[in-house]
Amino acid sequence: MDAMKIEDGFMVPTYQRYPIDAVRGRGALLYDQSGKEYVDCMAGYGVAILGHHNEYVLGAIREQIERLMTCHSSLYNDARAEFLERLVSLTPKGLDKVYLGNSGAEAVEAAFKFARKCTGRKEVVSMVGAYHGKTMGALSLTWNEKYRRPFMPLVPGVKFAKFGSLDSVRDAMSGDTAAVIVEPVQGERGVYPAPKEFIRGLRELCDERGVLLIFDEVQCGLARTGRLWAWEHYGVVPDVMTLGKGLGGGLPLSATILREDLASKLKPGDHTVTLGGNPVSCASGKATLDYIAGRRLWERAERLGRYFKSRLEELKERHRIVREVRGLGLMLALELRFDVRRVLLNALERGVILLYSGRNTIRLLPPLVIERRQIDRVVEVLDEVLKFEERDRGLV
Ligand SMILES: Cc1ncc(COP(=O)(O)O)c(C=O)c1O
Repeated sequence: MDAMKIEDGFMVPTYQRYPIDAVRGRGALLYDQSGKEYVDCMAGYGVAILGHHNEYVLGAIREQIERLMTCHSSLYNDARAEFLERLVSLTPKGLDKVYLGNSGAEAVEAAFKFARKCTGRKEVVSMVGAYHGKTMGALSLTWNEKYRRPFMPLVPGVKFAKFGSLDSVRDAMSGDTAAVIVEPVQGERGVYPAPKEFIRGLRELCDERGVLLIFDEVQCGLARTGRLWAWEHYGVVPDVMTLGKGLGGGLPLSATILREDLASKLKPGDHTVTLGGNPVSCASGKATLDYIAGRRLWERAERLGRYFKSRLEELKERHRIVREVRGLGLMLALELRFDVRRVLLNALERGVILLYSGRNTIRLLPPLVIERRQIDRVVEVLDEVLKFEERDRGLV
């Protein structure tokens, strides 16, 4: 079957696509229709945190599918209840009310609406370089002009401050500021961890002004950075946290988590979504959280992340084309001096799936279960394709 031809024929062309038709996966490996094997450092843009075909998660999904596949949140459900209990057992005390959606953008939309409703104020300060999704509200908080311009006018009341500059945030605030939203590690922009003093200063500033602090952990949460929550690197607890991507163990599930005193200002009808909190997604999410917490996967992410980063640093020593290596845990980036598109395609041909962040940066979001020898394979392939790129550009 020619999946590429059929999809290209039927799907609207809004995705940047790679020429690979994936049909199955195991751990950090993906296979295409011809049986070719790939090390998957894209992992569905960070969704497959436990890799592909995790038996523990699959068991929970199979069991739930047999019992009940759908249950609107206007009815109660045991799988949803168990998931919520498990999720809140892992959040800090006080952050214990949850809204469930299906995507990261939905989690952000909810945070945006809750911030307005709970504070009675209208404005939100977001960051230069931020990515929060592409639905209208989330897009209004997303920085990149390329995504925004064709869809103007967006939701009013959003101001952008310089990521890392408290003065800039202070300038962007007014008496009508409801919230500040920030990714503790900016992903889409190219994997930039926020400076410690910035995040700590934001907490103080928000407390001073009665402004809510929202951490968008859709990409950097769930053990990826070497801590269960990325904000643990900063010792700063937000008022609202958004989660998505791997939360449902590969099925659509997102969460907006907030303080009880905020949640008490919300009423039935304020915000709902038909498929949010689907029982199969919740069963899968509960198994995913059990797996992460039971095995302390954040420690593995930190250990393997350190190793992966050191191997990328070696590439930087060997290749002038590499400008910088960045990242925390298994959220890593290799910034080149040139456009990365050909490097990505050449790596794909050699069996490694990479991601980009902007034109010049290769982003790596591998499953947290990736093995050391698979990391070595990725580095080997990168070494080859960077060598080719340098030769072709007359740099060696
Ligand atoms: C930090 C962050 N927030 C929100 C989103 C939007 O998530 P989704 O694509 O599931 O809507 C993303 C997606 O990459 C993200 O990285």
